[in-house]
Amino acid sequence: MAITPAFLDELRDKVPLSDLIGRKVKLTHKGKEHTGLCPFHKEKTPSFTVNDDKGFYHCFGCGAHGDQIKYLMESEKMPFIEAVEYLANMAGMKMPDPDPKAAARNERNTELLKLMECACRYFQTHLFGSAGVDAKQYLIRRGMSSDLAKRFRLGYAPTGSGLLAHLTAHKFSIKDMQLMGLVAPNRDGNGYHDYFYDRVMFPVMNRRGQVIGFSGRILHEGEPKYLNSPETDLFHKGDLLYGLPQAIETVRKKNTALVVEGNVDVISLHGAGFTQAMAPLGTAFTEDQIRLLWTMCDEPVICFDGDGAGRKAMVRALNRALPMLRAGKSLKFAYLPDGMDPDDMIRKKSTKALQEEIDGAKPLIWSLWQMLLDGRTLDTPERLAKLEKDAMEIAEKIQDERVRSYYQKELQKRLKALGRKERPKANIASLLSPTDSPQLLAYILVYPQICADFSEEIMQYFHFSTLALQMAFETIMAELMVSPEVTTDDLWKLLGEEQRALLAASIQQLKKNSAANEDIKKAVHQLVLSAKRRALQNEIDSKNEEYLRTEDPEIKNELVALQDEMKKLMDEE
Ligand code: UTP
Ligand code: MN
Repeated sequence: MAITPAFLDELRDKVPLSDLIGRKVKLTHKGKEHTGLCPFHKEKTPSFTVNDDKGFYHCFGCGAHGDQIKYLMESEKMPFIEAVEYLANMAGMKMPDPDPKAAARNERNTELLKLMECACRYFQTHLFGSAGVDAKQYLIRRGMSSDLAKRFRLGYAPTGSGLLAHLTAHKFSIKDMQLMGLVAPNRDGNGYHDYFYDRVMFPVMNRRGQVIGFSGRILHEGEPKYLNSPETDLFHKGDLLYGLPQAIETVRKKNTALVVEGNVDVISLHGAGFTQAMAPLGTAFTEDQIRLLWTMCDEPVICFDGDGAGRKAMVRALNRALPMLRAGKSLKFAYLPDGMDPDDMIRKKSTKALQEEIDGAKPLIWSLWQMLLDGRTLDTPERLAKLEKDAMEIAEKIQDERVRSYYQKELQKRLKALGRKERPKANIASLLSPTDSPQLLAYILVYPQICADFSEEIMQYFHFSTLALQMAFETIMAELMVSPEVTTDDLWKLLGEEQRALLAASIQQLKKNSAANEDIKKAVHQLVLSAKRRALQNEIDSKNEEYLRTEDPEIKNELVALQDEMKKLMDEE
């Protein structure tokens, strides 16, 4: 069956033009139409309109006019069939079987796919042959069972040029082998040699499980660590994901995906039951990959390594996704402990430990807010204003109008919560002692909800003994205001190295002696009470001194008031 007009009509119905064009062009809703800057010519004021009801776009400036398919063909330079496939993907519709002409066009690809399949089998065979002993040992050492090796069709490329001979024997042309990056010409210009040698081979497959490229990890000494097939018509690293065909069923069924950094991570995750795991192939995480993930699930979880590079890559992923966000479609971020990658989590900790990190993955708005706060001190109006400016500029990047407006609201809410932290100077505001400070903060961190009542009071009356602790307290209070149900782990993640070091001992102590809620409240109450008494006593002492110096009756009155206050405090339990 070929592509029928009815099929195309259904596509046009299912993919609103504004959704499609809105991916690239910032559109503003005006009555029945959307308007924006025309993607087909340069302009400063919008003369481009999109009408979903009528199903066409029209530019009053340059006259560009058309429907979904024409838009993709003109603006994205897609061939007709690709435009249809793209729309079918967006609509979640299956493509009709190709017509004979398309089949003919595909024949060439079929030949290349056969070539790759033949190479894949060759590598697989050699993993289990005599040349593959070291490679097999290597995989075992990395915890990969033979079942996993089969599922991912792992192989070994031996030294020498056995693949060239093998493929030649199977009547494949050297030209195609070279095209697909399986062989390379010799340096002296005579003949060819295998491109991959002494490497553990990870075949890379498309959505349908066809081998389209390879990633080969060096087994013994050598560079680079991973060698990938060159880009070809079949193999675009930027728009595929390693592990896609193995993961796709789970991803669809569970409506979630897990994106990690490395091939090895993907495989060991599948081995541990995380069959929704995939990885970009060493390249940055691209818009195409985000789009691909969103055709399968709503909120893929990004879980890169817990090191500097991994965290930076997560920030880049966030920035990349931001303009693309739309209703229901987002990313989540799972932050692994320092120095851990997903494979380490399973091996050095446990499956459960990794599961917890994934379950606790943060929504994009959370990560965005952290990114905004990162490295700032918010102690002056100017600095707060700069934060607000930056926050609003970032939200501006979101193209989808509705999502953007919710982001703006949510960010404003958080900004307000920060602003509210500016507290009135209380008359007995005082410094908490160096021993009370970490203890009190540890209670708040470990039992944020139980301590909620006291927190307000502490905020009003006390300063912590060091700036680091004071900042930690304020960070925690700000977070509690926006998410009252926040957990200890979440709060811990907000703290810096120095703050953690100051609190670690007190927290450990608390966690060791788990106590009933009432006892916790009592303990915190006692801490606050004794801190207040000490603070008040200091106040009384200095007031007394002042009175002895001045004999001012006004000071005397103040002194008496403070002493009354103290009496009340002493009566309190
Ligand atoms: P890593 O170096 O973090 O991979 O690169 P890894 O899984 O931790 O490596 P080993 O095997 O455990 O030592 C992450 C991914 O980046 C790509 C690969 O796809 C790898 O899985 N990469 C890495 C390359 O493409 N080329 C390289 O030279 C290195
Ligand atoms: Mn790694």
